[in-house]
Amino acid sequence: MKALLVVFSQTGNTMKLAKRIQEGVAEEWGICELVTLHEAQGMAFEGYDLVGLGCPAFFYKEPFNVADFIEALPNLAGKRWFVFASHGSEMGTTLVSMANKLTAKGIEVIGSTHVYADAFLPFYPHPTVTTGHPLEKDLDLACDFGKRMARNSVAIAGGQKDLIDPPALTYAPDWSKKEAAVLNREVLAKAMPKFSINQDNCIECGLCEELCPVDGIDISADPPRIQEPCIYCFMCAKSCPECAIEADWSKLVQLAPANYARYLDTLNAAEARGEFQWMMDPETLDFDDPMYIQQARKKKS
Ligand SMILES: Cc1cc2nc3c(=O)[nH]c(=O)nc-3n(C[C@H](O)[C@H](O)[C@H](O)COP(=O)(O)O)c2cc1C
Ligand code: SF4
Ligand code: SF4
Repeated sequence: MKALLVVFSQTGNTMKLAKRIQEGVAEEWGICELVTLHEAQGMAFEGYDLVGLGCPAFFYKEPFNVADFIEALPNLAGKRWFVFASHGSEMGTTLVSMANKLTAKGIEVIGSTHVYADAFLPFYPHPTVTTGHPLEKDLDLACDFGKRMARNSVAIAGGQKDLIDPPALTYAPDWSKKEAAVLNREVLAKAMPKFSINQDNCIECGLCEELCPVDGIDISADPPRIQEPCIYCFMCAKSCPECAIEADWSKLVQLAPANYARYLDTLNAAEARGEFQWMMDPETLDFDDPMYIQQARKKKS
């Protein structure tokens, strides 16, 4: 039996989840390959008995580059895949949206899992509501999930169709479904801050180009090209060692307290279901000290 995991992970949370799922599948089948989304471009998936696709939640759904990856897949009728995600507070439609797109390619989505994880966003405070996650106990469950997917895949191939368990929107609040639909590429292109590279501060280290998942940056162009194209992951801005990537974050900073009020509701509901555990006191969040200000302060000192 051959299994493969395809993973998009920028800050390592989804990769932590993937590694534990990989361990679980490998306990059943001896080996489970793992590639990044970048390495998976153009791969042939027909040879695999089971594939898992994992990513973070971005704007209450899968990131645009993951949607593009699925869109570019050939028809894989009869193949068995599963989906997984890490997320900061409310993942909304992420798993269901991926599963629907995979199903449209003929793929049977046999299961899903997710973990709460730390979130780094330039306009939000850090530490944030889920700092400290993913928890070891959640990652242990991910290992069990990997084992189950391997076993179920064999049983489903043998005709046990009742084991197919695609994700559902059971707990997604309505506001998250609406936001997932509204925050499309066109809307984000208008709503998100425009970045610029301050050439006085840029040391041309190339890190932003290297980390951009969609080749949206060229620092050798005159003027440097940035956010063309863009999936609004903010990875370049939060990683630049010189804080040379500048943006007006003020509008998003203003939205943070209202967004966090609903995150508290969704996290309290998840706690009541036994899915989430508070590791910090939300009263201690400092909205006046968002991450981009912390970064600038760190650079100065
Ligand atoms: C651009 C962006 C959008 C995000 N949107 C959401 C979201 O809608 N819901 C959520 O729960 N977390 C959201 N997050 C938090 C990430 O899903 C979370 O930090 C995830 O664990 C990151 O995964 P990684 O470490 O594998 O990159 C967002 C993070 C970024 C950078
Ligand atoms: S990461 Fe920052 S310093 Fe490095 S090339 Fe990009 S903008 Fe310049
Ligand atoms: S330009 Fe920056 S924000 Fe846009 S996709 Fe690339 S790394 Fe992400």
